[in-house]
Amino acid sequence: METAPAPVIVAIDGPSGTGKSSTSKAVAAKLGLSYLDTGAQYRAMTWWMLGNGVDVDDPAAVAAAADKPALVSGTDPAAPTITVDGRDASAPIRTQAVTAAVSAVSAVPDVRTRVTALQRSIASGAPHGIVVEGRDIGTTVLPDADLKIFLTASPEARAARRSGELKGREAADLSTTREALLKRDTADSSRRASPLKQADDAVVVDTTELSLEQVVECVVTLVEEKQRAR
Ligand code: DC
Repeated sequence: METAPAPVIVAIDGPSGTGKSSTSKAVAAKLGLSYLDTGAQYRAMTWWMLGNGVDVDDPAAVAAAADKPALVSGTDPAAPTITVDGRDASAPIRTQAVTAAVSAVSAVPDVRTRVTALQRSIASGAPHGIVVEGRDIGTTVLPDADLKIFLTASPEARAARRSGELKGREAADLSTTREALLKRDTADSSRRASPLKQADDAVVVDTTELSLEQVVECVVTLVEEKQRAR
């Protein structure tokens, strides 16, 4: 009798605009794995804080509220979901108001402790394994992941992708998008608690000149190699 392969854990980190979400979802779908967008969890926490009158620039106030919202993530890569206190948060977490406040909220250690515990529990419960995307997955959340990928791309390519995503919603011009994105990168990389950082054993993939299909193929091949080697 053939035994089912052991669950595989894939960590995909990197700054925004590198194609992390599209890549992670496509890789998970292709390999029959679950998918977790950890940025969506920090955004959901931020949305709750903004909606409940918490001053997001006051780390003590944010810390005091960190365990209040009930965050639930659906991990089907074809239709990922996120709810906060039972309310669908998938649209409001993408607004500019949330994007502008999320770095401050996610820099608060109590927020990170709570969300990291949630992430670990979701990853360990995924029956066939999971692709988890974020900033600190390979370094802090799942340091024993079977495969760690760090996606990079030039600031120009990243800003162009972000503007494409925002088109029709809250589109800003390219230079404004580029500035906002670099500002968020600096905040996310320089915070004390679990910053955006490449793990020493991560495979770096520069997506500047690659299509989504090429990046997905590259990551799928790396996962399959790991699975064969186990
Ligand atoms: O991937 P994203 O742009 O949706 O992430 C939103 C913010 O959440 C990002 O600015 C930093 C934070 N984040 C984090 O601190 N750690 C993670 N693992 C994922 C996201």
